[in-house]
Amino acid sequence: METKFFFESKTAIVSGGGSGIGKAIAKGLFDSGANVFILDIDRDRCAAAVREIGGETGGRVKASFCDIRDAASVAEAVDTAIADFGIPDFLVNSVAVTKRKPALELSEEEIDTILSTNFSGVFRLCRHVAARMMEQSKRCGGRRKILNIASTGAMQGSKNFSAYNASKAALVTLTKVLANEWCSAGINVNALCPGPTNTPFVSGYYDEHPEIVAGIISRTPAGRIAQPEDFAGPALFLLSSSSDWIVGEAIVCDGGKNLNG
Ligand SMILES: NC(=O)c1ccc[n+]([C@@H]2O[C@H](COP(=O)([O-])OP(=O)(O)OC[C@H]3O[C@@H](n4cnc5c(N)ncnc54)[C@H](O)[C@@H]3O)[C@@H](O)[C@H]2O)c1
Repeated sequence: METKFFFESKTAIVSGGGSGIGKAIAKGLFDSGANVFILDIDRDRCAAAVREIGGETGGRVKASFCDIRDAASVAEAVDTAIADFGIPDFLVNSVAVTKRKPALELSEEEIDTILSTNFSGVFRLCRHVAARMMEQSKRCGGRRKILNIASTGAMQGSKNFSAYNASKAALVTLTKVLANEWCSAGINVNALCPGPTNTPFVSGYYDEHPEIVAGIISRTPAGRIAQPEDFAGPALFLLSSSSDWIVGEAIVCDGGKNLNG
């Protein structure tokens, strides 16, 4: 990716940064000079992402286990990140889980897991980090940024995604409320809404159903399916001071697919 932002001396926490879109954004931040702290429930992905992003000179990228559904785990992981790199300038939340099933076939537990990860977990981490960001803004001035990775599903009624799409709609609404409450305290909160993207989140399903991928491509004016790296540029822009006047927006980023449903 062409680097157009300069984040030397900035620090970012990226939840869900062990894989896919979160990892690509973490790499974009690292390549732009930021210190990057990844939080992820998958310890192997944490270790691999640090190696992949930082290579031999990894000091500016670190990672820690964190289960975003668990308040104690979030508190411990954020404390570790702050001890290593200081209070973050940026928080990116890319964590999510899903289950592709008709509404009546989802178990109570599956619904709980989706909502407690994609909505309540992200809300928890936003609150935890924002409190520290606000102290820092009060002491030092300047703006800090929170970017939630939602989904075009937030605006759609796609069959088999009842809990997932509802969790993303809730995340978009949460983004708007937090933006309104926190802007005057020095924090911009926005969301990015990707369309279908080739990551481990969906790649197994896409491998088994090439006709689904062909259908997505045929409805996407850009003529291909998204790769995780497609979101690094938009994310960096929404974290940079170039976007200080964007407050509480959910920006669709899908190669134009939503133009065709
Ligand atoms: N891939 C797509 O087609 C697509 C489309 C629209 C939106 N999105 C959104 O983009 C974001 C990133 O998705 P992705 O495709 O990169 O997925 P991914 O599965 O590659 O990455 C998500 C990461 O979240 C981590 N995670 C899951 N539960 C966690 C928990 N409880 N605590 C901490 N970490 C946890 C996973 O270990 C994984 O590393 C998600 O919010 C997803 O909803 C993805």
